[in-house]
Amino acid sequence: MQSVVRELSKKKTIGLVPTMGFLHDGHVSLIQKALKHSDIVITTIFVNPAQFAPNEDLDRYPRDEKGDIEKIKSAGGKIVFIPKASDIYPDNYQTYVEVGDLSQTLEGASRPSHFKGVTTIVAKLFNITRPDVVVFGLKDYQQAMVLKKMTHDLNYPIKFIIAPTVREKDGLAMSSRNKYFSPKQRPESLALYFALKTAKEMVKSDIKDTSQIKKEMKAVIQATCPTAQIDYIAFTDFNSLDPVKKIVKNTICSLAVRIHAVRLIDNMKLL
Ligand code: PAJ
Repeated sequence: MQSVVRELSKKKTIGLVPTMGFLHDGHVSLIQKALKHSDIVITTIFVNPAQFAPNEDLDRYPRDEKGDIEKIKSAGGKIVFIPKASDIYPDNYQTYVEVGDLSQTLEGASRPSHFKGVTTIVAKLFNITRPDVVVFGLKDYQQAMVLKKMTHDLNYPIKFIIAPTVREKDGLAMSSRNKYFSPKQRPESLALYFALKTAKEMVKSDIKDTSQIKKEMKAVIQATCPTAQIDYIAFTDFNSLDPVKKIVKNTICSLAVRIHAVRLIDNMKLL
């Protein structure tokens, strides 16, 4: 990959879209976005062991390499990089990249070693593919902000683009993990989207107090999925991730909820 890129970059600008595979239209939208900002796009598929805790779903994470390659091709992607775990983390691997405060809250608080794994693999992918442009999804809002900070702090000469969340027709944010739901469970996965829509509507009718909004969101979640377990519902400033008590411009609401043992995340800008 490094020698391919060395030749390629003499004539073309390179876009990069890192993924863990089992691609859906959200991933495809990132490839299309990257193509608008670069000559040739590299999509990577790597289910990164370093970002999964021992109790998480690394072993059952869905895979479909053939289907993924088809989707990348039809999106206009020309290069796919699918490394083996032993190539990325050979025996005696010892080097990790960590972003400070931004990676400690929200997802970082619930999944302590998660972002260290994400920043390490993405830094390695940057070094391997030397992109001019990268595209990440707003669906994983904190991940995008942490990676943007890493890109800036480590002086990568890369244009960093965050693309909007692609949703199913009914509002569920597309995710490779949606595959875990049985048809009977699937409607209950809408709990997060319904809660976010409720928050947005409350803000529209001038309710700005986050504790009031949070209470209503919890009620919507319980009504949609009575067995739901809320991990967090957070209101933060979009850029700093600092908590917000009263909704102001640039407040984003993020939440993580376990629906039938599947941990889903979603978010929405409220103002
Ligand atoms: P993965 O979950 O496969 O997501 C790859 C990229 O697709 C991320 O930038 C993610 O934010 C984006 N994405 C996922 N669902 C989306 C949706 N519904 N709409 C728009 N974009 C969406 O995120 C990861 O993999 C990994 O942590 C990775 C960055 C590849 C590092 O291992």
